[in-house]
Amino acid sequence: MTERRETLTLTDNRTGTSYELPIDDGAIRATDLRQIQAADDDPGLLSYDPAFLNTASCRSAVTFIDGERGILRYRGYPIEELAERKTFLEVAYLLLYGELPDEAQLADWTFQITHHTFIHENIKQFIDGFHHDAHPMGILVGTVGALSTFYPDAKRIFDEESRRLQITRLIAKMPTLAGFAYRHAVGLFYAYPDNDLSYPGNFLNMMWKATELKYRPNPVLERALDALFILHADHEQNCSTSAMRAVGSAHADPYSALAAATAALYGPLHGGANEQVLRMLRKIGSKDSIPEYIEQVKAGKFLLMGFGHRVYKNYDPRAKLIKEVAEQVFEVTGRQPLLDIALELERIALEDEYFVSRKLYPNVDFYSGIIYLAMGFPVDMFPVLFAIGRTPGWLAQWEEGLLDPEQKITRPRQIYTGKPERHLEPAE
Ligand code: ACO
Repeated sequence: MTERRETLTLTDNRTGTSYELPIDDGAIRATDLRQIQAADDDPGLLSYDPAFLNTASCRSAVTFIDGERGILRYRGYPIEELAERKTFLEVAYLLLYGELPDEAQLADWTFQITHHTFIHENIKQFIDGFHHDAHPMGILVGTVGALSTFYPDAKRIFDEESRRLQITRLIAKMPTLAGFAYRHAVGLFYAYPDNDLSYPGNFLNMMWKATELKYRPNPVLERALDALFILHADHEQNCSTSAMRAVGSAHADPYSALAAATAALYGPLHGGANEQVLRMLRKIGSKDSIPEYIEQVKAGKFLLMGFGHRVYKNYDPRAKLIKEVAEQVFEVTGRQPLLDIALELERIALEDEYFVSRKLYPNVDFYSGIIYLAMGFPVDMFPVLFAIGRTPGWLAQWEEGLLDPEQKITRPRQIYTGKPERHLEPAE
């Protein structure tokens, strides 16, 4: 029997030379490939991995996903337990500090978040400058980035106290920016934060408060929104988190990095998909039209929005939980007719060879939009709701990257495919 070694032996058939590369945690280091040279002036072998299909960009202790088995855990805790038994602020603390807060820590954390919800009055002026039909996600990208100019102390990214303060400010202010962006779109006065309310309750207050002296959120909807925020709170190295880490790796302040992450989330292949799902369901219009729509998807005319995932090749566990939340919400709001179209669409797709063979299942965005719609949110607010939930995850990943001694400025390599050296014509 040969001795088991945690190494990989590679033979370069160009030269006949063999190399033994160490394997750590199931990975080889791409930089170890650089020693593999075909000639003395060869810069060394590169690994080519467009869209990072099989490249780990970091070590992370925040979130674990097993896509084959449909498992999602934050700091080791299954998402199902957290969504059922914890609040969003407790989960945010867990993501950021690594452990759930005890009673005193939670009281202090809640106090800190509650007392940083106000935004500088000047921010209202530039929200006012946006068109009445500006997409609220565009407003959010702009205003969250602009916050960096209000907090120049945020540049002190290696000062732990400053980082803590910016993290608190960002988690506290995202719902305020989101609420103000919505109120601008509908031409309503800005509703200010109410310190008596919970995190989700206060957000509902900033969305819906009208003439009443005190807004009182419906407790079922308040809890449902909290659970939805939990389900969106982190998802390891997805597109927006990678944007957050990449911009953070250049030592930009967290407001600027979070604006970049929000911009990435805006894309319809990522967090913008929840908005597109709703538009798609409305376009389909009735259950009878589903088979024809599916045929068009299979013909490559468009994607089935809310289906498919880079890492989940089984059911997305968040989609399963969201269906449960939907039932609770519909008991208050009444059943959304679009849900029936969505359920039928899912049933037909999951029996179809095209989707089965490609392991395409509903993702988090498939059902979340229907709940948001039932709760009264306009469709273009859906990705904004996602961004509020994802903020603690972005910040936990940003801080982890910043403090990781192995990390440097993000700077991938390329394979040049352009013209070889050439020269301008001699001057006349
Ligand atoms: N509808 C139809 N076909 C699809 C879909 C879909 N939603 N998703 C993937 N496919 C097909 C692809 O065309 C491809 O087919 P092929 O092998 O014949 O070429 C195959 O399934 C594999 O898909 P990829 O695009 O290689 O998968 P990738 O991991 O790159 O993309 C993504 C994942 C972006 C999520 C993709 O599934 C998609 O565009 N889904 C729709 C948008 C969406 O719902 N995004 C939200 C994702 S969750 C989130 O970000 C929060």
